Amino acid sequence: MSILNIDLQAIEPWVSNNDLNTFLPSALRALEGLHNKSGKGNDFLGWINLPDNAAEQAEEIISKTAAFKQGLDCIVVIGIGGSYLGTKAVIDALANPFGNNLPGPEICYAGHHLSEDYLDVLIGHLQSKNWGIVVISKSGKTTEPALAFRLLNTALISKYGRPEAKNRVLAITDAKNGALRTLANQEKYQSFIIPDDIGGRYSVLTPVGLVPIALAGYDINSFIRGAQQMSVPTLPGKTDLENPAIIYAAARNALLAKNKTTEILANFNPRLHYVAEWWKQLYGESEGKDQKGIFPASVDFTTDLHSMGQYIQDGPRNLFETFLTVGQGQKTVIVPEDKDNLDQLNYISGRRIEDINQQAALGTLLAHVDGGVPVIQIQLAKLNEEALGALFYFFEISCGISGYMLGVNPFDQPGVEAYKNNMFALLGKPGFENQTEILKKRLEK
Ligand code: PA5
Repeated sequence: MSILNIDLQAIEPWVSNNDLNTFLPSALRALEGLHNKSGKGNDFLGWINLPDNAAEQAEEIISKTAAFKQGLDCIVVIGIGGSYLGTKAVIDALANPFGNNLPGPEICYAGHHLSEDYLDVLIGHLQSKNWGIVVISKSGKTTEPALAFRLLNTALISKYGRPEAKNRVLAITDAKNGALRTLANQEKYQSFIIPDDIGGRYSVLTPVGLVPIALAGYDINSFIRGAQQMSVPTLPGKTDLENPAIIYAAARNALLAKNKTTEILANFNPRLHYVAEWWKQLYGESEGKDQKGIFPASVDFTTDLHSMGQYIQDGPRNLFETFLTVGQGQKTVIVPEDKDNLDQLNYISGRRIEDINQQAALGTLLAHVDGGVPVIQIQLAKLNEEALGALFYFFEISCGISGYMLGVNPFDQPGVEAYKNNMFALLGKPGFENQTEILKKRLEK
């Protein structure tokens, strides 16, 4: 079995081979457009070559992060959107969910929302820790992480004093622009650069993802190797049907043409929750523009079968699902036999929980197909750094292809500015005076 397999059998009642074939040429053209940089947003295509470029940077990252984390038992990663979701997705997929036996310091997150309560509790949590900060922002001026950094850096300075606090901050940002770069240069923080031609949501294979993943104790060489493996079958030279990224992009667009406007990424392992969050940002921010795009949603099964399951089974039929499953792991948990059988579970005693979960997945797939929901199936061979690297690169390539097939620029996010401008105006940020007046009048009505 290869590291990642994609299966379209459960979309066939809606998308025949002929239907799919009509989308393959445009998927291939889109892939060629990504590689020869002839499409929209072509100044943001640096991520395509990241599997090889990242490999060159890995040793430097490993040695610098090893020195940085020495003695630390907690690191706060500050960032939002593409500057944190890839890290969180990888670490949550691999780490002990109960926080035991971690291969590195505890990783906490900040700057990904504006909850006062969360920041207060985090600062309290850090009091008894030997801690440091990794602050990540490509633009270097995003409000949420900038604010979190001001607060946490103040706490760091008050605990360790300014000279020592500087050694406990690592900044990842643009080479030249933005307030974070100015701050990093002035305070002489150790820093890494986010290349100009890579946008946030495509940056997990740059220091944005690699530095915190290495700090957490995971193997970034394997992660990069997985992406390298996936870069081979996703090259334009491969025939369409050997290329999983083309298949996925073509299938999604064929389903959209059948009015399946919402895609739900469903997992059967809670470790994948944040992989879905990362995926939602990737596809939502890349495709949702010019009144186009497939709405990306996600569910954790079987948990959400007891909440969202009803809607998926019986609600409006504009949905399709993508099941993301993982091959059997090493750890086995067997259902014990019980002589009294009062819970009536002896019919499955002796079986692995994993086996039962697989039957749940199969039962769900059959039920949802019967209910009118096509299901694309993506299976990862295992859950480790290598497979995650392959998965992320696969989703990125496929997203670029899919965006071009829709006719949008998958590498900008103009719509994200609307809320920011209103927030700045409401907060009285200098330069936003006109907008403040307009909003005041609107709110008075
Ligand atoms: O994909 C993107 O570009 C965005 O989601 C950004 O990652 C997010 O807005 C954070 O931006 P920055 O890294 O500039 O703080």
